[in-house]
Order: sequence, then C-alpha cells, then structure tokens
Amino acid sequence: MSSLTPIRFAEYDPKALSEMTGRVAVLVTPEGSMDQAARSANRLAKGAIARLIDSEGFKKAKAGDVISLGWPAGMKAEALDVLVLPRKLTPVEARKAGASLVKGAAGKRLTVMAGSMNKAADLTLGMALRDYAFDNHKSPKDDKPEAEVVIASKSPSNLEAACAPLLALAEGVHMTRDLVNEPANVLTTTEFARRIEEMTEIGLEVEILEEAELEKLGMRTLLSVGQGSDSPSKVAVMQWKGGAKDAAPLALVGKGVVFDTGGISLKPAAGMEEMTMDMGGAGVVAGTMRALALRKAKANVVGLVGLVENMPSGNATRPGDVVKSMKGDTVEIINTDAEGRLVLCDVLWYAQERFKPAGVIDLATLTGAIIIGLGHDNAGVFSNDDDLCNAFLKAAKAEDEGAWRMPLGKAYDEQLKSRIADMKNVGGRPAGSITAAQFLQRFIKDDMPWIHLDIAGVASVSKDTDYAPKGATGWGVLALNRLVADKFEAE
Ligand code: BES
Ligand code: MN
Ligand code: ZN
Repeated sequence: MSSLTPIRFAEYDPKALSEMTGRVAVLVTPEGSMDQAARSANRLAKGAIARLIDSEGFKKAKAGDVISLGWPAGMKAEALDVLVLPRKLTPVEARKAGASLVKGAAGKRLTVMAGSMNKAADLTLGMALRDYAFDNHKSPKDDKPEAEVVIASKSPSNLEAACAPLLALAEGVHMTRDLVNEPANVLTTTEFARRIEEMTEIGLEVEILEEAELEKLGMRTLLSVGQGSDSPSKVAVMQWKGGAKDAAPLALVGKGVVFDTGGISLKPAAGMEEMTMDMGGAGVVAGTMRALALRKAKANVVGLVGLVENMPSGNATRPGDVVKSMKGDTVEIINTDAEGRLVLCDVLWYAQERFKPAGVIDLATLTGAIIIGLGHDNAGVFSNDDDLCNAFLKAAKAEDEGAWRMPLGKAYDEQLKSRIADMKNVGGRPAGSITAAQFLQRFIKDDMPWIHLDIAGVASVSKDTDYAPKGATGWGVLALNRLVADKFEAE
C-alpha cells in the first residue's frame, strides 16, 4: 500500500536556509514581492530570485506555478522552488499550489518555507493529496532517497493541529486510489473485504455478509452477478457512530465489481483491463468511511458495498434469465454487462430496510454512457431531492470535484418494460445513464432522499490531474466528507 511521506511541522527559521538539503520552496507573489525567506534565499543565491522576477518568463507565471532554480549558489539545497502565490488565495488555489510543489519533488526531501502564509493548511492538504504513487507492484529501487516533507511555519503547532483532519482526508483518498488501482487478481472480493475489516482498528464497526446470508436475505440480483466467478460474493457493512445515539445515519452505498468482463455478454478484449476499476464506487465508500473515522466525525454514517466479480462460466447468468431482487421485484437480465444496477438494487434495499437512513447516496462506475455525456471532468449526479442534491453539488464545488446534475423522469421508465418480468436491466442506447438511474430509483423508498453518482468517467483517468498522477483519482471522498460535515455533523 502506498503511504504518505512523513510531514514534519518545524519552526520558520530563514537563517537556517543555507544548510537545508533537498529542495527548498519559498514564496513570491505574482507581482514579484518576496517574503522573508525568499529574500534570505535571494541573498544567499546572489540575487537569483530577483533576476527571475525581472525575467520575461516570470511575467507569464500564474498563481500556483512553481519555478525551479537548480543548484542555487550559497545553499546546500539541490533546488530552490519559487512558488508564485498571491497573498490572498482560495483554499483550492492553495491546494493546487501544494500539489504542484510535490509533483516536482517526487520522493525527495522538501522544505516549504510557509512562514505566516494564509491557507498553509490547504497547501499541506494539496501536498498530501499529490504525494501518491501506486508502485507496490514495481520492483523496488534500492537508491530510493529518504523522503520527508517539512513545513516551516511561524506557528507550527497551530498549523499541525489545523492539518490533522485534512491529513485524515488525504489518507481516505489514498485508500480509495489504492483500491481502484489494484489489479483484480490481488483485489479479489475476499481481499477487499479483508481491507475493509482492517478498519475496525480505527473504530469502524464492520460486518461481512457471506453468500449464505445474502441468499437468506433474498439478494438474488446481487448473487446472480457473482455466480459465474470463483470469488465469493459479499456485502460489507461499515458503521461509524460519531453522532447522536438516536440520529438516523446517512447511508453510502457502493458498486464493488472487482472485475467486469461483461459476463456472458462479454466485453471486447480491447480496453477490458480497465475494468479493474469497476469497484470504484465501493472504493470511494471505503475511503470516505476511513476519513470520517480518522477525523472522528460527529455524525452517524453507514457504508455498504456489494463485492462481486462478473465472469462468464457454466454457472454464469445468461441473457434472458429472470431473477428476483430482495425487494421482491423481478428483473429480466437482457445484458449481463449491465450488472452494476443488479448489485446496487439489493444493497440499496437492504440499507433502507435495516438502517432507516436519513438519506442514501450511491456511487458506481455504472455506465459508459456517462463518459460520452460528461467526459472525465464531471460525475453524473441524479437525485430525487433538491435539498440534498444542492448540498452535495455545493460540497463538490468547494472541493474542486466536478459534478453535474442529470435529469430523472417517469418517461424513461418506458424503456425498462419487460415482456415477462417486472422490468428488464437495460433500456437501450438512448439516455443509457438515465435509464440506469431510473432502474435504481425503483429500489428507493418513497420520500427517501437519494443521490446516485455515476462515477465511470472520474474514478480513474488516463492523464495526471491537479491532485493525482494518472490512474485512480479518489474522486468523491472530499465532497462526501464535506457533505457530512455540512449536513449531518452535530456541533
Ligand atoms: N462497468 C461498466 C461501465 C463502465 C464503462 C465503467 C467504462 C467505466 C468505464 C458497466 O457495468 C457496463 O458495462 N455498462 C454497460 C451498460 C450497457 C450494457 C447497458 C455500458 O455502459 O456499456
Ligand atoms: Mn458491465
Ligand atoms: Zn460494471
């Protein structure tokens, strides 16, 4: 598993600059004004920063840019990173700046001369978010330098306290990324459940429901997806009880298809390897629960994930099979590749029956169609409740996680009519993401506030983002955490 580079909060001492090793970052405003440490470094480096500020290139520098001066004179550091930062900045700008510092430092020792900078905690969060590499399947290199991040502040203990809950978030995000990046021969349903069970150590109550129990509960649609695989299907339940004793919890429900071959409706070979990320919804639920537990959120939140593998075999579900959901509704399975909704519908029903939640939010890499509609910068947001939905959209915006509301509507139900069962599992090509959401909505009780997040486009991407290298992004952990803080957390 990847782990955060240790962060140390130290006293701000510009006089120590000449002796610092590794990379040293100092602050300059876009107008070219240097702070105390930048002035000291400039003196040591015989005016290098002043010349940078006078250069043509500096005029084009934007807030958050990092300009590196290699092997500065008068210093032991191997690089002086000049961070271009206005004195007044938003949390997101501070995070992005922190992320670009770390992107350049890649595993080296880095000292940030933050001084009394505004939003130093957000800068630190940005650094922690970007400080991620999924390299546990690469042969180790033995010349790996000892990485350390030092934040030099005028009030290090206050900053450290302010950063603690934010670093809990980064750990949650990293857990989600680890799960999403992990190949399916490693992250089997059993291994996923084991990693969830490990979180009892941080105070979560965890239960793993095995196949016999799922059978007894009547979760036939979920079981029908996993029955072609040698890996047993499971439902994991994580409870965080940080709120009032009698307060109804928020339920987070995740699609955890550890690999999606499509089943008998087999996917084409090209690109199939990407379906290791088809447990992305469950990954976000697990990472969010981790973050909430680590920061001891004063809220009741329950996370439920359906863990299955969608494989073709002699036992696999066939197109045309009819199965009964836990709710009692029957589904004609036209396409075994539309499996996510079959997993979610049973877990959604179980979550509502057992926990009588105050609201339900499900996350799933549900449809390719949402990628056609929204690309990789926005998740699709579907909801039956404007208040909850607007609160989520606001939280996502504040956390710089793209989210765009999509419509629901009775008219789409036409497409799900089956000749022989209560519904079929696909609605044809038009509005593929919406008919998937309509399918899920049939398993949401009347008056239950509900959001469905289709994260197929955002869970894992082929380019670096502002906060993560290419691959898993951890999208959603920050927005959900903020929603919990805004709407469900007691004072
Ligand atoms: N896991 C896929 C959706 C997906 C596609 C996620 C691309 C991430 C990237 C899902 O199970 C699926 O196969 N959906 C089908 C539904 C169709 C058969 C109605 C799809 O989108 O093609
Ligand atoms: Mn599928
Ligand atoms: Zn899938």
